[in-house]
Amino acid sequence: MSGFKLLRTPPGSLVVFVCLLMSVVENLHKGPGVKVLVKEHDDAILPCSFSTRENLEEMLFDWRKNGQKNGQKKEVFLYDAGDHYNNGHQGQDEQFKGRVSHFQDQLMNGNASIKIQNTTMADSGNYSCDFPHLQPSQTFNIELVVGTCPEPYIKTLNDMKDGLLLQCEVRGASPKPKVQWQDSAGNILPSEGKCSERGGLYYVTRWTAVTKTDQYRCVVTQEEIGHQIDAETFVPFCEKRCEDCSAKKLIGGFCGFIIGVVVLVVAKALLVATKCFRAN
Ligand SMILES: *[C@@H]1O[C@H](CO)[C@@H](O)[C@H](O)[C@H]1NC(C)=O
Repeated sequence: MSGFKLLRTPPGSLVVFVCLLMSVVENLHKGPGVKVLVKEHDDAILPCSFSTRENLEEMLFDWRKNGQKNGQKKEVFLYDAGDHYNNGHQGQDEQFKGRVSHFQDQLMNGNASIKIQNTTMADSGNYSCDFPHLQPSQTFNIELVVGTCPEPYIKTLNDMKDGLLLQCEVRGASPKPKVQWQDSAGNILPSEGKCSERGGLYYVTRWTAVTKTDQYRCVVTQEEIGHQIDAETFVPFCEKRCEDCSAKKLIGGFCGFIIGVVVLVVAKALLVATKCFRAN
């Protein structure tokens, strides 16, 4: 019965990306493996199942994570005929304590998939699902890619001749994001950029030159993990020009007024002078 408790997920936790390649799994004994991609903080389901649908309830399977520096594997989840890491079995790696569960009601269908909750970048890597007691023993390989993308950061750079240069910066994203500038109508604007990679994270900057008042968006897309995020900025470019124009108009008007006054005064003076002349 304890298995059913494990099936409860915390409210709000979402399995966003479920690997679609389950059907391929049974052919992966020595194959390249299945890739599962999720966004940081989402849950990940790592698939491992037999197409023969044999009942696994009384079997032993062991999920481990490869690729540690010392060549050792981390214990992720062990199930041994009903005993497992969530009901007292010892030996689970600290990184996975309280975060990994199996699907008890799926075992009888040959499904030994697990769910890792609230993934972080540290969970990325190669996992294996082993059935050491089977003859011959069976191993399934699954690669987990946990993506991350901080919010893009917009800056308005100093004026160019007749426009403004907008900068959008993404600091530390994985997998590599596509960064684009758009206007409020959704048109993709011509832009230039640079990209660098450090420790598996991508740092991307893109610039675009704008000359019109608009709400501009920097859109960051990571197709592999179905993730998109954007930031917006309002550029009141034309208003600035208009202010300039109206300032000029004002000055122009004032000058006109002054000239008018001067003309009027001169005319009046002439008139007065004429009158005076006549009077004499
Ligand atoms: C195994 O169980 C998980 C969790 O219920 C499910 O998402 C997955 O589709 C199942 N795999 C197969 C091959 O039925």
